[in-house]
Amino acid sequence: MAPDSVDTESIPAHVAVIMDGNGRWAEARELPRSEGHRVGLKATRRAVEFFANRGVRALTLFAFSSENWQRPPAEVEALLELFVTAIEEELPELREKGIRLRFIGAREEFPFELQARMREAETQTAANDTMTLVVALGYGGRWDILQAALRWVREKGGSGLDPAAFDDFLSTAGLPELDLLIRTGGEQRISNFLLWQAAYAELCFLDVLWPDVGEAELQDALDTYARRQRRFGRIGERRDAAHA
Ligand code: IPE
Ligand code: IPE
Ligand code: MG
Repeated sequence: MAPDSVDTESIPAHVAVIMDGNGRWAEARELPRSEGHRVGLKATRRAVEFFANRGVRALTLFAFSSENWQRPPAEVEALLELFVTAIEEELPELREKGIRLRFIGAREEFPFELQARMREAETQTAANDTMTLVVALGYGGRWDILQAALRWVREKGGSGLDPAAFDDFLSTAGLPELDLLIRTGGEQRISNFLLWQAAYAELCFLDVLWPDVGEAELQDALDTYARRQRRFGRIGERRDAAHA
């Protein structure tokens, strides 16, 4: 499907989302937290479709952090099962829509079955180019910076280190610069997500819990982004003057 955006200038090339609030959504209904994650997956589906239709080039979703291993074993177990079935169930539609899937994070910490699913999904969608959907699993911004530094030292021996060249060693190598970072669930923190990559991203915090997120909330985030003036350390353009 063709992107239905009209103003490509104000559409972010790369959006990242901290999908927070599943547990509270479930607890408010006296349901197990795992039920919140299950319903949260439906919101994830809506978000993927929404951003792909708006012409976003890359969407990075925080699904499981390095620190989430510290949750009760039953919750971790339920999440791992959900990831396995979600990859299996979503793959045909992602292929149909031309979406490329990529996973970032310390994947060797996951069960072999899940690792195999990740590899398989990446292989089967490798040639797709409508949008890249990056799922952060076992991801931490500090982990990313450290693994990049380690590989840099191994491959380059510590010389010529500069920020632009370092980008190629991060797990997000090859993706567009991060433009917009959204967090749902009401907390205003990054929780060890894309620390390096968020250097000049616009931040958008939504009060709504992830399972309740739909098109209206996502459109709000895009509208907020379109109204922001990005400066990247330079001075701002005068909005009232057409001349230089
Ligand atoms: C985010 O929702 C999903 C994961 C961290 C896996 P939470 O599970 O953190 O939900 P809250 O923040 O407890 O409501
Ligand atoms: C961040 O949410 C991780 C994901 C959404 C996957 P958390 O719920 O783990 O973050 P904190 O603990 O509130 O900072
Ligand atoms: Mg949370």
